Order: sequence, then C-alpha cells, then structure tokens
Amino acid sequence: YGDPSQKIDYVFKVVLIGDSAVGKSQILARFARNEFSLDSKATIGVEFQTRTLLIQHKSVKAQIWDTAGQERYRAVTSAYYRGAVGAMLVYDITKRQTFDHIPRWLEELRGHADKNIVIILIGNKSDLEDERAVPTEDAKEFAQKEGLFFLETSALEATNVEDAFLTVLTEIF
Ligand code: GTP
Ligand code: MG
Repeated sequence: YGDPSQKIDYVFKVVLIGDSAVGKSQILARFARNEFSLDSKATIGVEFQTRTLLIQHKSVKAQIWDTAGQERYRAVTSAYYRGAVGAMLVYDITKRQTFDHIPRWLEELRGHADKNIVIILIGNKSDLEDERAVPTEDAKEFAQKEGLFFLETSALEATNVEDAFLTVLTEIF
C-alpha cells in the first residue's frame, strides 16, 4: 500500500459521486486501506484519503475525495470538483433509482469539472446478484453512449475495486 518515503511523481485528484448509500465511502475504504464496514455511516461534508501506487514506473499519489450523496450533507460543489482529473460515478446494482439518477450526476459533473476529466461508471454491490435491479447491459449501453468507462464492483468482496481505480488513474496518465 505504498512506501511513504518514496518520491511522488504525480498527484491525481479523483472524486466519488452518486446517490447516498451506493457504497462510495466503502469503495474508498477498500481502495485506500483494504477495509470494509457493513455499518458505514452516511458521509457528512467531504473526506479524502490517499494511496500512492506505481504506474508505469512512476509513483502516483491518488487523492480520492468522497462526499455525501444526500443533498443536505453535501460540500460546496465547485470546490469539490476543482482540480479533479478523474471521477467515479457510482450506483447500486440493487437500487434502480440510483442508476436512474446517474444522468443528473453526470450533468453536475460536466457542469463543474474540467472537460477532459476521465469518468468511470461503477455499478457497486455486485455481490448482491440475487437482488439485482439494473441489468449489466443497460449500464454498459449507457456508458458507451456517454463515453464512460464501466465496471461492476463489490467493495464487500473487493471485486474490481482496484481495477476501477487503475482504469481511471492509468487513463489520466
Ligand atoms: P453517503 O455517504 O450517504 O453518500 O453513502 P455512501 O455512498 O458513501 O455509502 P456507504 O459507503 O456508506 O455504504 C452504504 C451501505 O452499503 C453500508 O451499509 C455499506 O456497508 C454497504 N455497502 C457498500 N458497498 C457494498 C458492497 O459492495 N456490497 C454490499 N453488500 N454492501 C455494500
Ligand atoms: Mg459516504
């Protein structure tokens, strides 16, 4: 999980967005500390965590920002997106509404972020296949149409979390 004494070649800011309870904070906990909690509390304001990793022989410090999905707990939008070079747009595969809201999040993102920002659409909670409400194909199609990367993840089982971050960080690079 990175040697803190190493020199940093790049710092990349990546933001997490999406409805409340889709698992943004747990995706971040899995990526930054390899931790997961089932009784995660709703985020209030903004939090961020960093992890330094090697990409193509360069040390990249990923600074991942996480905010509340709930409107009343959200941070100032423009400050949140400022300087971000990557974005992870997260929905919950078991909650159709969280997928239906993705176009709104995308609109906010495109309204505030740099136009070259790298975006990945993430369908989280892939471990709950029995409760699936969003077919993989629907999301894939949407991502293709909008020019986004796409992966389904499970923060609980640690499936594709590393891949999702690497997809974004490598593309920024
Ligand atoms: P806000 O901070 O309110 O925006 O929510 P959030 O998107 O950060 O959600 P959070 O990470 O707090 O997770 C919400 C709930 O979903 C918690 O009970 C988590 O334990 C659970 N959860 C997160 N990821 C997964 C996953 O991959 N699988 C399952 N089964 N549960 C998950
Ligand atoms: Mg949160």
